[in-house]
Amino acid sequence: MKASTKANNEGEVAAAFQGTVRRLGARFTGYDTIAGAGTNSCVLHYLTNDHDIEKGSVMLLDAGAEVGYYTADVTRTWPVSGKFSKEQKAIYDLVLKAQNAAIDLVKPGRKHHEGYDAAMRVLSDGLVDLGILTGDKESVYKSAAYSRFSMHGISHWIGLDVHDTGNYQQEPGKRGGSRVLEAGMALTVEPGIYIPKDARDIDAKWRGIGVRIEDVLLVTPDGNRNLSDKLPRTVESLEAVLNQRD
Ligand code: GLY
Ligand code: MN
Ligand code: MN
Repeated sequence: MKASTKANNEGEVAAAFQGTVRRLGARFTGYDTIAGAGTNSCVLHYLTNDHDIEKGSVMLLDAGAEVGYYTADVTRTWPVSGKFSKEQKAIYDLVLKAQNAAIDLVKPGRKHHEGYDAAMRVLSDGLVDLGILTGDKESVYKSAAYSRFSMHGISHWIGLDVHDTGNYQQEPGKRGGSRVLEAGMALTVEPGIYIPKDARDIDAKWRGIGVRIEDVLLVTPDGNRNLSDKLPRTVESLEAVLNQRD
């Protein structure tokens, strides 16, 4: 994260991550690192990581070390200036609220899909509160208008592979009926909002901001354990790390 505050190009941030995990003992990453700044933070599975970083932009890093054949899959988004702008903070806090709502539903007995529904409700209502979507909250949610800015699923199994094998439906081979979570399962929770630079009908102050927050959760008998919770995840803790002296 700190490397991004001095970097000119996205590739330097991807390289800093890869260098760091090698130094800490991992030989591989579990998938190709995604390091996108500014409007590239809105590109899902952005892989070129080769654009210059504009001052004041957000940086989205989706990356995971592989150790002992198991991979992580973690995303953090932060401002390269070291301080979130008002709009960056508003989007960030909304995605964080959606992620927390989904994480609260990671527990035995809950269905895998419930977290998605809870997160989309938070994002949809929040986009209306910010004036990015207009209309009454119920109809905006029902029409799935939020999907223009939040267009991917928010959870997959993880383990030996980043998108690990396993059914998402309760009865293999039969469609419908989301899988019920059990202790010992490992999954990601990764909502995001993406407002690319070319979203010309949206107020310019929001454009070029993409935020995803992704953690790896282990379902435990009582609820869940966030396996990536040592990483800063709030505006305050991210800003603190970015501004730490070497
Ligand atoms: N890194 C790909 C994903 O988050 O699923
Ligand atoms: Mn993922
Ligand atoms: Mn990821």
